[in-house]
Amino acid sequence: MSVHPASRPTGGARGRRIVVLLSGAGSNLAALLRRDDLGGRVVLVLADRHDAGGLEIAASAGIPAASEALSEHADRVSWEAALADRVAGAAPDLVVLAGFMKILSADFVHRWPVLNVHPSLLPAFPGAHAVADALDYGVKLTGCTVHFVDEQVDHGPIVAQAAVEIAADDDVDRLHGRIKQVEYRLLADAVGSFCRGELKVTGRRVERVGSPG
Ligand code: GRF
Repeated sequence: MSVHPASRPTGGARGRRIVVLLSGAGSNLAALLRRDDLGGRVVLVLADRHDAGGLEIAASAGIPAASEALSEHADRVSWEAALADRVAGAAPDLVVLAGFMKILSADFVHRWPVLNVHPSLLPAFPGAHAVADALDYGVKLTGCTVHFVDEQVDHGPIVAQAAVEIAADDDVDRLHGRIKQVEYRLLADAVGSFCRGELKVTGRRVERVGSPG
Protein backbone atom coordinates (compact mmCIF):
# COMPACT_ATOMS: atom_id res chain seq x y z
CA MET A 1 0.00 0.00 0.00
CA SER A 2 1.39 3.41 -0.85
CA VAL A 3 -0.17 6.80 -0.17
CA HIS A 4 -3.80 6.02 0.25
CA PRO A 5 -5.48 7.64 -2.75
CA ALA A 6 -8.79 7.74 -0.96
CA SER A 7 -7.36 9.65 1.98
CA ARG A 8 -7.89 12.99 0.30
CA PRO A 9 -10.50 15.44 1.47
CA THR A 10 -13.70 15.84 -0.48
CA GLY A 11 -15.21 19.16 -1.32
CA GLY A 12 -18.57 17.84 -0.16
CA ALA A 13 -20.13 19.82 2.65
CA ARG A 14 -20.95 16.67 4.62
CA GLY A 15 -17.62 14.99 3.93
CA ARG A 16 -16.67 11.39 3.55
CA ARG A 17 -19.15 8.54 3.41
CA ILE A 18 -18.48 5.90 6.07
CA VAL A 19 -19.91 2.38 6.28
CA VAL A 20 -19.56 0.66 9.67
CA LEU A 21 -19.49 -3.15 9.98
CA LEU A 22 -20.04 -4.68 13.41
CA SER A 23 -21.07 -7.84 15.21
CA GLY A 24 -21.78 -6.73 18.76
CA ALA A 25 -22.87 -4.02 21.15
CA GLY A 26 -21.73 -1.17 18.94
CA SER A 27 -20.25 1.06 21.62
CA ASN A 28 -17.50 2.10 19.19
CA LEU A 29 -20.19 3.03 16.67
CA ALA A 30 -21.94 5.08 19.36
CA ALA A 31 -18.65 6.86 20.11
CA LEU A 32 -18.18 7.65 16.41
CA LEU A 33 -21.70 9.05 16.22
CA ARG A 34 -21.06 11.31 19.23
CA ARG A 35 -18.27 13.09 17.34
CA ASP A 36 -19.20 16.04 15.17
CA ASP A 37 -15.67 16.66 13.89
CA LEU A 38 -15.11 13.54 11.77
CA GLY A 39 -15.20 15.23 8.40
CA GLY A 40 -17.50 12.40 7.39
CA ARG A 41 -20.74 10.72 8.30
CA VAL A 42 -21.87 7.15 8.83
CA VAL A 43 -24.24 6.37 5.95
CA LEU A 44 -24.83 2.66 6.61
CA VAL A 45 -24.32 0.13 9.42
CA LEU A 46 -24.10 -3.56 8.56
CA ALA A 47 -23.92 -6.52 10.91
CA ASP A 48 -23.30 -10.23 10.46
CA ARG A 49 -25.82 -10.96 13.23
CA HIS A 50 -29.47 -9.95 13.33
CA ASP A 51 -29.21 -9.39 17.11
CA ALA A 52 -26.17 -7.09 17.07
CA GLY A 53 -26.81 -4.22 19.50
CA GLY A 54 -25.13 -1.81 17.09
CA LEU A 55 -28.11 -2.14 14.72
CA GLU A 56 -30.37 -0.49 17.30
CA ILE A 57 -27.85 2.26 17.91
CA ALA A 58 -27.86 2.96 14.17
CA ALA A 59 -31.64 2.86 13.94
CA SER A 60 -32.10 5.27 16.82
CA ALA A 61 -29.64 7.66 15.14
CA GLY A 62 -31.68 7.44 11.92
CA ILE A 63 -28.90 5.62 10.03
CA PRO A 64 -29.85 2.83 7.62
CA ALA A 65 -28.89 -0.53 9.11
CA ALA A 66 -29.08 -4.13 7.91
CA SER A 67 -27.70 -7.55 8.71
CA GLU A 68 -26.40 -10.36 6.57
CA ALA A 69 -25.97 -13.64 8.45
CA LEU A 70 -23.42 -16.14 7.16
CA SER A 71 -25.68 -19.02 8.24
CA GLU A 72 -28.34 -17.90 5.74
CA HIS A 73 -25.99 -18.23 2.78
CA ALA A 74 -24.78 -21.34 0.97
CA ASP A 75 -21.16 -20.44 1.66
CA ARG A 76 -18.79 -17.67 2.68
CA VAL A 77 -18.35 -16.50 -0.88
CA SER A 78 -22.04 -15.78 -1.39
CA TRP A 79 -22.33 -14.23 2.09
CA GLU A 80 -19.45 -11.86 1.42
CA ALA A 81 -20.81 -11.03 -2.05
CA ALA A 82 -24.14 -10.03 -0.49
CA LEU A 83 -22.35 -7.95 2.14
CA ALA A 84 -20.15 -6.31 -0.51
CA ASP A 85 -23.23 -5.47 -2.62
CA ARG A 86 -24.76 -3.67 0.33
CA VAL A 87 -21.52 -1.82 1.04
CA ALA A 88 -21.12 -0.84 -2.62
CA GLY A 89 -24.69 0.47 -2.66
CA ALA A 90 -23.69 3.00 -0.01
CA ALA A 91 -20.71 4.19 -2.11
CA PRO A 92 -18.37 4.57 0.87
CA ASP A 93 -15.06 6.39 0.97
CA LEU A 94 -14.16 4.38 4.08
CA VAL A 95 -15.30 1.15 5.71
CA VAL A 96 -14.81 0.86 9.49
CA LEU A 97 -14.76 -2.49 11.28
CA ALA A 98 -16.01 -1.65 14.76
CA GLY A 99 -16.08 -5.05 16.42
CA PHE A 100 -16.76 -7.04 13.24
CA MET A 101 -15.93 -10.65 14.07
CA LYS A 102 -15.65 -12.17 10.57
CA ILE A 103 -12.61 -12.35 8.35
CA LEU A 104 -13.01 -10.60 5.01
CA SER A 105 -11.37 -11.68 1.76
CA ALA A 106 -8.48 -9.87 0.07
CA ASP A 107 -10.89 -8.74 -2.66
CA PHE A 108 -13.13 -7.06 -0.11
CA VAL A 109 -10.39 -5.33 1.87
CA HIS A 110 -8.71 -3.97 -1.26
CA ARG A 111 -11.94 -2.68 -2.76
CA TRP A 112 -12.31 0.11 -0.19
CA PRO A 113 -10.01 1.57 2.45
CA VAL A 114 -10.89 -0.39 5.62
CA LEU A 115 -9.97 0.58 9.19
CA ASN A 116 -10.20 -1.84 12.13
CA VAL A 117 -10.01 -1.33 15.88
CA HIS A 118 -8.43 -4.16 17.86
CA PRO A 119 -8.15 -4.49 21.66
CA SER A 120 -4.41 -5.11 21.99
CA LEU A 121 -1.12 -3.52 21.06
CA LEU A 122 -0.56 -5.32 17.75
CA PRO A 123 1.36 -7.32 16.71
CA ALA A 124 0.84 -8.76 20.21
CA PHE A 125 -2.35 -10.77 20.68
CA PRO A 126 -4.09 -10.79 17.29
CA GLY A 127 -7.35 -12.71 16.95
CA ALA A 128 -10.72 -12.89 18.62
CA HIS A 129 -9.52 -13.31 22.24
CA ALA A 130 -6.99 -10.51 22.50
CA VAL A 131 -7.98 -9.30 25.98
CA ALA A 132 -8.04 -12.79 27.54
CA ASP A 133 -4.79 -13.69 25.76
CA ALA A 134 -3.03 -10.62 27.19
CA LEU A 135 -4.27 -11.45 30.71
CA ASP A 136 -3.26 -15.12 30.37
CA TYR A 137 0.19 -14.18 29.11
CA GLY A 138 0.75 -11.98 32.12
CA VAL A 139 1.74 -8.78 30.31
CA LYS A 140 1.52 -5.64 32.44
CA LEU A 141 0.61 -3.36 29.58
CA THR A 142 -1.84 -3.87 26.74
CA GLY A 143 -4.03 -1.42 24.85
CA CYS A 144 -5.66 -0.93 21.48
CA THR A 145 -4.70 -0.45 17.87
CA VAL A 146 -6.39 1.17 14.89
CA HIS A 147 -5.01 -0.12 11.61
CA PHE A 148 -5.78 -0.38 7.93
CA VAL A 149 -7.00 -3.85 7.08
CA ASP A 150 -5.07 -6.01 4.66
CA GLU A 151 -5.47 -9.66 3.66
CA GLN A 152 -3.98 -10.96 6.92
CA VAL A 153 -5.83 -10.93 10.23
CA ASP A 154 -5.10 -7.94 12.51
CA HIS A 155 -2.05 -7.12 10.43
CA GLY A 156 -2.30 -4.03 8.19
CA PRO A 157 -0.51 -0.67 8.56
CA ILE A 158 -0.96 0.81 12.03
CA VAL A 159 -2.59 4.25 12.28
CA ALA A 160 -2.65 4.68 16.06
CA GLN A 161 -2.07 2.80 19.30
CA ALA A 162 -2.65 3.59 22.96
CA ALA A 163 -1.55 1.70 26.05
CA VAL A 164 -3.68 0.51 28.97
CA GLU A 165 -2.11 -0.80 32.16
CA ILE A 166 -3.24 -4.15 33.51
CA ALA A 167 -4.13 -4.23 37.20
CA ALA A 168 -3.37 -7.23 39.41
CA ASP A 169 -7.08 -7.92 39.97
CA ASP A 170 -8.26 -7.38 36.37
CA ASP A 171 -10.59 -9.81 34.69
CA VAL A 172 -11.48 -9.85 30.99
CA ASP A 173 -14.60 -7.69 31.34
CA ARG A 174 -13.01 -5.06 33.53
CA LEU A 175 -9.90 -4.79 31.37
CA HIS A 176 -11.88 -4.78 28.13
CA GLY A 177 -14.10 -2.03 29.53
CA ARG A 178 -11.05 0.20 30.18
CA ILE A 179 -9.59 -0.62 26.75
CA LYS A 180 -12.87 0.34 25.09
CA GLN A 181 -12.86 3.74 26.77
CA VAL A 182 -9.52 4.36 25.03
CA GLU A 183 -10.70 2.85 21.73
CA TYR A 184 -13.53 5.35 21.43
CA ARG A 185 -11.15 8.31 21.13
CA LEU A 186 -8.48 6.42 19.15
CA LEU A 187 -10.89 5.14 16.48
CA ALA A 188 -12.76 8.43 16.07
CA ASP A 189 -9.48 10.37 15.84
CA ALA A 190 -8.21 7.97 13.16
CA VAL A 191 -11.45 8.14 11.18
CA GLY A 192 -11.31 11.94 11.40
CA SER A 193 -7.71 11.98 10.17
CA PHE A 194 -8.65 9.73 7.27
CA CYS A 195 -11.65 11.84 6.33
CA ARG A 196 -9.62 15.04 6.41
CA GLY A 197 -7.02 13.48 4.11
CA GLU A 198 -4.29 13.47 6.75
CA LEU A 199 -3.13 9.85 6.51
CA LYS A 200 -0.18 9.04 4.29
CA VAL A 201 0.49 5.31 3.99
CA THR A 202 3.86 4.13 2.71
CA GLY A 203 4.30 0.39 3.00
CA ARG A 204 3.61 -0.41 6.65
CA ARG A 205 4.15 3.15 7.81
CA VAL A 206 1.28 5.53 8.37
CA GLU A 207 2.06 9.21 8.90
CA ARG A 208 -0.30 11.96 9.88
CA VAL A 209 0.34 14.83 7.53
CA GLY A 210 -1.30 18.24 7.43
CA SER A 211 -4.59 18.30 5.60
CA PRO A 212 -3.83 18.91 1.91
CA GLY A 213 -6.87 21.04 1.51
C1 GRF B 1 -13.87 -3.68 20.62
O1 GRF B 1 -13.13 -3.92 21.78
C2 GRF B 1 -13.00 -3.84 19.39
O2 GRF B 1 -11.66 -3.53 19.61
C3 GRF B 1 -13.14 -5.29 19.08
O3 GRF B 1 -14.48 -5.58 19.35
C4 GRF B 1 -14.95 -4.72 20.39
C5 GRF B 1 -16.24 -4.12 19.90
O4 GRF B 1 -16.96 -3.50 20.93
N1 GRF B 1 -12.72 -5.58 17.73
P1 GRF B 1 -18.30 -2.68 20.62
O5 GRF B 1 -19.24 -3.59 19.85
O6 GRF B 1 -17.90 -1.46 19.82
O7 GRF B 1 -18.85 -2.31 21.97
